[in-house]
Amino acid sequence: MHDVVQDYYGRELQGTSDLKTDACCDMSSVPDWLKSLLKNIHPEVLSRYYGCGLVCPPLLEGCRVLDLGSGSGRDVYALAQLVGPTGEVVGVDMTDEQLAVAQDHRQFHIETFGYDNVRFLKGYIEKLDELDLEPESFDVIVSNCVINLSPDKEAVIKGIRRLLKPGGEFYFSDVYADKRVPDVVREDPVLYGECLGGALYWNDFVTIAKNAGFADPRLVEDRPLEVTDSVLSGRVGNLRFYSATYRLFKLDDLEGDCEDYGQAVIYQGSIADSENSFMLDKHHHIETGHIFPVCGNTWRMLQDTRFKEHFKFIGDFSRHFGIFAGCGSDLPFDQDINEAEASTCC
Ligand SMILES: C[S@@+](CC[C@H](N)C(=O)[O-])C[C@H]1O[C@@H](n2cnc3c(N)ncnc32)[C@H](O)[C@@H]1O
Repeated sequence: MHDVVQDYYGRELQGTSDLKTDACCDMSSVPDWLKSLLKNIHPEVLSRYYGCGLVCPPLLEGCRVLDLGSGSGRDVYALAQLVGPTGEVVGVDMTDEQLAVAQDHRQFHIETFGYDNVRFLKGYIEKLDELDLEPESFDVIVSNCVINLSPDKEAVIKGIRRLLKPGGEFYFSDVYADKRVPDVVREDPVLYGECLGGALYWNDFVTIAKNAGFADPRLVEDRPLEVTDSVLSGRVGNLRFYSATYRLFKLDDLEGDCEDYGQAVIYQGSIADSENSFMLDKHHHIETGHIFPVCGNTWRMLQDTRFKEHFKFIGDFSRHFGIFAGCGSDLPFDQDINEAEASTCC
């Protein structure tokens, strides 16, 4: 499949408008803070953007960031401005033509930003250990519409965990299916290249992430994708595809479910562009100043990461109150005594 993908992104596609789905967001939905970063990026880099989401989490200044499948470098050059002169962004891609566009405009961006904090490496994201990258050396790893293209997604996720610092996170957008993609769809080279054929059934992704040691994957945002090409749309039949952004924290103590220890956090409103609230994920919009009850995992995602100094923490892990209602799966047993009695036992 590497050959099919290299051919698609190296020769077949000449620009964003050649894509056959609406995976790439149009400029009207791009937030203002990102528009101001994109203004500083070379037009040729922008014209070859093939991502499907936003991979710029907050609080990146001074961070080391790795972009997997960095393509022509749009996200690398946006992230370079967010990490600033004290940070670094490394892009990895396997396709020469994509890397060439990214490299050709390095000098332009050094002059525009006023600093040099970007490099690109040629390599396979399944074989990150073959690149000269120090284990546990990245604060954040991102990826935009790439993991679906990999024939060995388990290897990719394991390699990411190896490179992340403790408390670091993998923050990435990708395409998922509502059910397992049948072979006939997966083996179609255009559907594969368009990021549909290799898409994981969302719950298989959650299992792969957990098996690799990311115990509590958090969904940040999602949207349904439309296959805009009528021929391809016919070929995918009743499969539904979604673009989704997840964040996976490298935290050894995360539990398989959200457990309630009676803890709460208070967001200080101190993160730039998030003065009124902080969004950890789709289910945690934490308003500034509000005493916000959290499960043990959410507590750790805020306490043991770069977000720590922006929160006050109430409580500890000394007392357990059961499953955290509305966060993990609910108690599986009948709670109504009459219901329990009605069921027969053997
Ligand atoms: C859909 S494009 C996304 C590019 C970029 N992230 C962006 O948002 O414009 C996928 C990119 O991932 C790269 N890619 C796909 N599979 C890869 C792999 N196994 N190893 C390295 N790069 C890969 C392709 O060469 C291509 O540049």
